[in-house]
Amino acid sequence: MDIVLYPDPRLRKPNAPVEAFDEELAATARQMFELMYRTKGVGLAAPQVGINLQMMVYNPEGDALKPEGETVLCNPRIVRRAKDKEFEEEGCLSFPGVYAQVQRPASVVVEALNLAGEEFSLELDAWEARIFQHEFDHLDGILFTDRLTPANKTLVKSQLDELETAYRERAQA
Ligand code: CO
Repeated sequence: MDIVLYPDPRLRKPNAPVEAFDEELAATARQMFELMYRTKGVGLAAPQVGINLQMMVYNPEGDALKPEGETVLCNPRIVRRAKDKEFEEEGCLSFPGVYAQVQRPASVVVEALNLAGEEFSLELDAWEARIFQHEFDHLDGILFTDRLTPANKTLVKSQLDELETAYRERAQA
């Protein structure tokens, strides 16, 4: 399992709902956590490992030694968004080295299924709401750079160009 890097089209493909809540799904989630920790991330969505399914994992602690922070969501839905929005710096494992300010609702209420296919609900705010919404966007094929103000996009333009060039070179190799 490897991280799919921008601008790989797999990051933009539709993601199918999870239907099989089996051992393979649990094993995939476990591998995603391990890859996330190895790459110093706090969240990872299935399309970022080339699996176009509506599943994400995150741990706000970003630390394999703090598994109590681990959350897996399948087929998540946002049922409520706060009206107030906040800017915060984000990065993404599919955009190594790129960081930018992104505006998002400060809190969300979420419904999802766990690895056993059981429904649960979460009220998220602050850092955890931020991580969730970033990963949730991946499940819709939306990348954090899509949400930048024109001024903030300008700040990362050359880095995005470099990633696009590197992708083209790999594709030709
Ligand atoms: Co991301």
